[in-house]
Amino acid sequence: ALRSSFTRKAQKSEQRSQYGLQPQASFKVAVLGAAGGIGQPLALLIKMSPLVSALHLYDIANVKGVAADLSHCNTPSQVLEFTGPSELANGLKGVNVVVIPAGVPRKPGMTRDDLFNINANIVKTLVEAVADNCPDAFIHIISNPVNSTVPIAAEILKQKGVYDPKKLFGVTTLDVVRANTFVAQKKNLKLIDVDVPVVGGHAGKTILPLLSKTKPSVSFTDEEVEELTVRIQNAGTEVVEAKAGAGSATLSMAYAAARFVESSLRALDGDGDVYECAFVESNLTELPFFASRVKIGRKGVEALVSSDLQGLTEYEQKAVEALKPELKASIEKGVAFAQKQA
Ligand code: NAD
Ligand code: LMR
Repeated sequence: ALRSSFTRKAQKSEQRSQYGLQPQASFKVAVLGAAGGIGQPLALLIKMSPLVSALHLYDIANVKGVAADLSHCNTPSQVLEFTGPSELANGLKGVNVVVIPAGVPRKPGMTRDDLFNINANIVKTLVEAVADNCPDAFIHIISNPVNSTVPIAAEILKQKGVYDPKKLFGVTTLDVVRANTFVAQKKNLKLIDVDVPVVGGHAGKTILPLLSKTKPSVSFTDEEVEELTVRIQNAGTEVVEAKAGAGSATLSMAYAAARFVESSLRALDGDGDVYECAFVESNLTELPFFASRVKIGRKGVEALVSSDLQGLTEYEQKAVEALKPELKASIEKGVAFAQKQA
């Protein structure tokens, strides 16, 4: 009897998934660059979200197989594939969140800015399509150099008359994920409790972990601050070198991007307690864009957490000032690129 009850339960659960177990919410998420190193594991993680009803996978090649494969997972969301520019518009219609990991990754010896020439055009083309087909969606930009691709996206959206600064995010979650991991390891803390805000931008010294604002409150020696800050700033390069020409972070990035997607969906679903770091339009400094913790709500960024930039240590204050010239130049480079194309 026990066995048949177990079998019945298993059959029922199988039926529910086959015939569409209702997701807890019905948001549509598009991944542009879905067949790539980040795109594939990211799509898998989003497929596991109970808040998603449809997952739209777009790439210029190889996305059919990824979608067929993923569609066999018995989680509620439907998987749809869109290949090449002629299918992009359809892939974006009705979408609530668009994630963009399309573009080339670094090889050893390159900076993120070395990717500008190729990735700027890719982001421009994709954001134009977003503006035309789902202008109200949250846009998550992963493609590097984030310090320039986000300003490019903003300019393109302005040119199209649909820019909503509250809905454009440069994804810096991986910097937070790394900071949390490295700090927990160094200080023997329970990982789940550790939260380190990371501000500035997403390249080299523009990545600034605010270790003095770590939760739970931890004290660091000057040497520890220096060592952890440098490790967090160079973590992307650490992976690029370990992969030795085969690309940059993909799995940890997918994990981080999935966390940011899930937070955005929770916010869209009405959760009033969603905070993440992101590179957004900002008035926290004199620069037009700056990464900080932001409160996300149904309409996007509801508030920037300005308190993180108050009461900084002398080391952090100096680092904020030191990162500004590079970040400013990267922002201006993006804006100039987009304006030249207009
Ligand atoms: P990848 O080469 O493995 O995948 C990129 C994918 O983009 C490929 O499938 C490719 O076909 C696709 N693509 C290229 N042009 C396209 C277009 N016009 N439209 C749609 N898709 C297109 O690279 P990856 O490892 O997945 O990295 C992607 C990007 O993410 C890189 O620019 C990398 O630097 C960046 N990245 C950012 C972070 C971050 O923290 N923000 C972290 C890791 C990587
Ligand atoms: C990262 O931080 O891992 C990404 O920006 C990829 C890179 O080029 O380092």
